[in-house]
Amino acid sequence: MDDCSSRPQPRLYTDLASWWPLLSSPDDYAEEAEFHRQCLLKASRISVRTVLELGSGGGNNATHLKAHFELTLVDIAPAMLRVSRNQNPECEHIHGDMREVRLGRLFDAVFVHDAIDYLTTEEDLTRAIETAWIHCRPGGAAHFCPSYVRETYRPDTRHGGHDRMLRSLRYLEWTYDPDPEDTTITTDFAYILRDAAGVRVECDQHILGLFPRATWLALLSKQGFLVSVEQFKPSEPASSTWDTFVCSKPEPGA
Ligand SMILES: C[S@@+](CC[C@H](N)C(=O)[O-])C[C@H]1O[C@@H](n2cnc3c(N)ncnc32)[C@H](O)[C@@H]1O
Repeated sequence: MDDCSSRPQPRLYTDLASWWPLLSSPDDYAEEAEFHRQCLLKASRISVRTVLELGSGGGNNATHLKAHFELTLVDIAPAMLRVSRNQNPECEHIHGDMREVRLGRLFDAVFVHDAIDYLTTEEDLTRAIETAWIHCRPGGAAHFCPSYVRETYRPDTRHGGHDRMLRSLRYLEWTYDPDPEDTTITTDFAYILRDAAGVRVECDQHILGLFPRATWLALLSKQGFLVSVEQFKPSEPASSTWDTFVCSKPEPGA
């Protein structure tokens, strides 16, 4: 069985984490952060003030959501928490693994963005769903947003990057599925990094989970969530669609 707890974390979240804002800029998240906000509001039966984000990374969604919610941001990578603290000093940051973190308090909503991609087994997915359930107030909402489900996944190559002050980054991202029978895909990155010291190229490999829509729906329902699929269709690139899972936690006796 594939075990992501023993796998080294990607370089993007460890020794190269300070380059994250040049790979993925907060500005690129405005449209989808609004989609996530609307999904949480729609699914919740209570008013949403406190939100727990599991796997908050560099805090790009948070830069937008914090205007509306009181955010608690959890991530497994200390270097990414440092990046997010810089971008979101007013938010609470906690080091933790979404499969096992227990904060001992309830939130009106729980948000899990693309960090869920890093869970590669149904067992780990079940553990993260349980974490969301335990921290979600009855009547509240949870929103799970994998980058792909099995039905929407296509091998692909993308590139991008940003310039900031004295540093620039360009990347090539290549995603493929070495074994369509298992629950993982591979994404290889080449980063070109330019700063005062010159230009260098670094490589990084991310092993990501890929599950059929039916698996998501079954695991979320089994936990007790009332779940529906909401598709996010960004204006750019116009062709792409993401299946996201919008969950309500029923109130006792409901
Ligand atoms: C692509 S980044 C998330 C970016 C985020 N969506 C944002 O808005 O900036 C993925 C993050 O998932 C985190 N991650 C991976 N596995 C995790 C786990 N088991 N628990 C918590 N965080 C995890 C990584 O450390 C990384 O920071």
